[in-house]
Amino acid sequence: MNALTVVPRKAKSAELSDVDDPPESDGPVLVETIGVGICGTDAEILSGAYGWAPPGRERLVLGHESLGRVLEAPPGVGVVAGDFVVGIVRRPDPVPCANCAVGEWDFCRNGQYTERGIKAHDGYLSERYRITPEYVVKVDAALGILGVLLEPTSVVAKAWEQVDRIGHRAHWEPATAVVTGAGPIGLLAAMIGVQRGLDVHVIDQMTEGKKPNLVRALGAAYHTGPIEAACPAPDVVIECTGVSALVLDAMEHVGPGGVVCLTGVSSGGRTVSVDEGALNRSMVLANEAVVGSVNANRRHYESAAEALARADRAWLDQLVSRKVPLAHWQDALERVPDDVKVVVEVSTT
Ligand code: BGC
Repeated sequence: MNALTVVPRKAKSAELSDVDDPPESDGPVLVETIGVGICGTDAEILSGAYGWAPPGRERLVLGHESLGRVLEAPPGVGVVAGDFVVGIVRRPDPVPCANCAVGEWDFCRNGQYTERGIKAHDGYLSERYRITPEYVVKVDAALGILGVLLEPTSVVAKAWEQVDRIGHRAHWEPATAVVTGAGPIGLLAAMIGVQRGLDVHVIDQMTEGKKPNLVRALGAAYHTGPIEAACPAPDVVIECTGVSALVLDAMEHVGPGGVVCLTGVSSGGRTVSVDEGALNRSMVLANEAVVGSVNANRRHYESAAEALARADRAWLDQLVSRKVPLAHWQDALERVPDDVKVVVEVSTT
């Protein structure tokens, strides 16, 4: 079968390969891939900066934002042939650590977890894959191809959960939130913020085009300047860019008792100057919290499915800005103005 594969840590190594059918040892549920979303992590893997091949292999099958249709499943596992499903990305470490042992693999403590399409485990960008039932999440077939948004939504569902849990260390009645970055993660984070009844402000660099319109269509405000000008002292900041200047801006300008949640992975190697003393002082004196958040466990996929079900379908539709057939996968990797989420289509819905 066809699969998009890459040699991790080797730029320009991606190719459409003819790979073996998925082995039964991968699990009893056989899934036909419908589409796979491409994200910043894939771009990093393709550029040779990130990713790990499965042990003893040179190439990794790419793809972690999946949508598929069940072809075969044993009885009683929660999915049947024809169901639309998404595969969870991370697998617990084999030790397992205390967190992986209780299904909180997103909080793996020893780093020995694997991730499909990213770390030592083939991804979903192949015509078919096999999986064990505990890592399959059923999605509403009415969402069609928009089901590919479940995985990125699970990442922001986890981020909002972290914000909530930290907020509840004291009386917590947040009213305002800033989201930095109007890419898919930022837009989905803003969507959940609006669903929670917050006054949401999204900051990005684009002055025109699709992003400002998508933000405004949510009922959120769009800005291009610093946090202080967009929304002074917000209760929550969800940082979705990993750009160090914005990370610092968030830490410096979150409101008293506020929570900054960092979801963007920075590339490192950049230095910015910061008045550490002033930053420390304002964070201590105002009880501010900064938390990093990565990946998602099953609970977050389920809350993401609820958020997508509540979302406006026409708005979600605009997030999937381009669909590219697997045979033309190279086109999916090019950035085109106004791209939001690009999906590689493997079969039809
Ligand atoms: C994925 C996460 C993953 C992270 C780090 C993200 O793109 O959505 O599931 O944990 O990359 O590898």
